[in-house]
Amino acid sequence: MSIDIAVVPVAGIGTRLLPATKSQPKEMLPVGRKPVVQYVAEELAHSGIRRLLFITGARKTTIENHFDEDSELITHLRDSGREHELAELDFERQDMQYFYTRQRRQLGLGHAVLCAAPLIGDQPFVVALGDSIIGMHAQSDIVGRMLDEFEKARADVVVAFEEVPESDVEKYGIAKPRGPVGDVFELESVVEKPVRGEQPSNLAVAARYVFSPKIFDFLRQTKRGKGNEIQLTDAMHEVLQAGGKGIGLRLKSGEQRFDIGNYQSYFRAFTEFALADDKEGDGLRDYLKELLRET
Ligand code: UTP
Repeated sequence: MSIDIAVVPVAGIGTRLLPATKSQPKEMLPVGRKPVVQYVAEELAHSGIRRLLFITGARKTTIENHFDEDSELITHLRDSGREHELAELDFERQDMQYFYTRQRRQLGLGHAVLCAAPLIGDQPFVVALGDSIIGMHAQSDIVGRMLDEFEKARADVVVAFEEVPESDVEKYGIAKPRGPVGDVFELESVVEKPVRGEQPSNLAVAARYVFSPKIFDFLRQTKRGKGNEIQLTDAMHEVLQAGGKGIGLRLKSGEQRFDIGNYQSYFRAFTEFALADDKEGDGLRDYLKELLRET
């Protein structure tokens, strides 16, 4: 079995990033030189994914445009003697097919994943959140490692986790491991936003999942939870409670998750990516040092 399809939900409204997200998707906000969702697509290509199914919505058409070949732009660059800049569009030609379906009502991440059911059918699949980057240069192979473990363990749910400080456990879905926790561990359950001090671990869900098609049966039955939304965590919990096999993988060092869902983490991500930029990073570092000296 070789899993080469990923569902990328990008239909959320992004209220925490208003007004920037009023008329453009948060997944298209630039982090350094590229929009968030381009890093996601490049990372998935690096792990062998060849088909991307975006769960999209109104106000999100720029995502479709971004992954289309733009012959007008190519002609313009050629005609104006700027062929060297065509390299910036290499991602358009990566070995990937793109598909789009709409989530017509904002009923949460679980509902967004359920919108993929008619197209995914009876096959296992990856879910990668379109607003989260893993690592700096889209070189993480976390999804490839997750797929290996999924197949080895004949799992139903595989989730990537990142260690977070205890003060942050209330913000995330947190792993409840079964037995010892190594780089790969057995997952008993996922607890949504536990009260600090009562968390089963400090490992937070990190935006990448692999599911067997069983998840759809549970999503169909999942009642609306927090925020009146259908929560993916609730359906995962149900799959595991019903005897489904769960595996957790820890992100390695260098695979930090950049969550472009709020201004604090967006500003931090942009700064880190800009500082790592080949051409502009050093100059920016000097500028920031100067700026900080003045304040
Ligand atoms: P968030 O949980 O950050 O929700 O989405 P949101 O609605 O985008 O943002 P806020 O809370 O209003 O600020 C995590 C990922 O799931 C997608 C989002 O597009 C994002 O990539 N999502 C979320 C959907 O596709 N549909 C939804 O109904 C909710």
